[in-house]
Amino acid sequence: METELYIVTGNAGKLREAQLILAEYGIRLRQVPIEKLEVQDDDVVRIAEVAARDAYSRLRAPLIVDDTGLYVEALNGFPGPYSSYFLERVGLKGLLKLMEGVANRGACFRTGLAYADEGGVRTFVGEACGTIAEAPRGSNGFGYDPVFIPEGETRTFAEMSVEEKDRLSHRGRALRAFAEWYSQLLLSQGGKT
Ligand code: IMP
Repeated sequence: METELYIVTGNAGKLREAQLILAEYGIRLRQVPIEKLEVQDDDVVRIAEVAARDAYSRLRAPLIVDDTGLYVEALNGFPGPYSSYFLERVGLKGLLKLMEGVANRGACFRTGLAYADEGGVRTFVGEACGTIAEAPRGSNGFGYDPVFIPEGETRTFAEMSVEEKDRLSHRGRALRAFAEWYSQLLLSQGGKT
């Protein structure tokens, strides 16, 4: 069964990661050129939910929205939902400077994923925990990938292929939870394209 969905994002990295995973479920993902509404909230799931509802009111076609944050233990969970702003203003160098001499390098990525259609919005969540590297490594991925080492690995996300990152990542987990649910939904509706 093949079906098509929109993703509201301007981030080519997110799009590629999501396309690869959803293709395994027969879901074709298309980028939609509308602006993602970014509300201020402590919870990435809530941010994704509001953005999906807003995008659906304009697009009127089934879509997903992903909102992701990096929660650093030694920074009491900061930057979390402010990860985009933090990366723009402080950058990876600034993050590593803040972490200089800090023994607790634990951090988690958290993705809130929201799906919207005429029936409303449904949300999913995915987490990946690990550590903040001492220095940036690797050139794949995007955002914080060069400084994040997932649990059980020695390489950063930026040193992995997109397939490897997808297997371990917050986004991968949220997308697979969504895809399992969505496949069941389509089956119960007798399949739609
Ligand atoms: P947003 O979900 O687009 O708001 O992302 C927040 C910030 O986290 C942006 O600066 C992204 O580049 C970064 N980010 C989102 N997902 C990932 C990821 O999978 N790896 C590394 N950085 C990410």
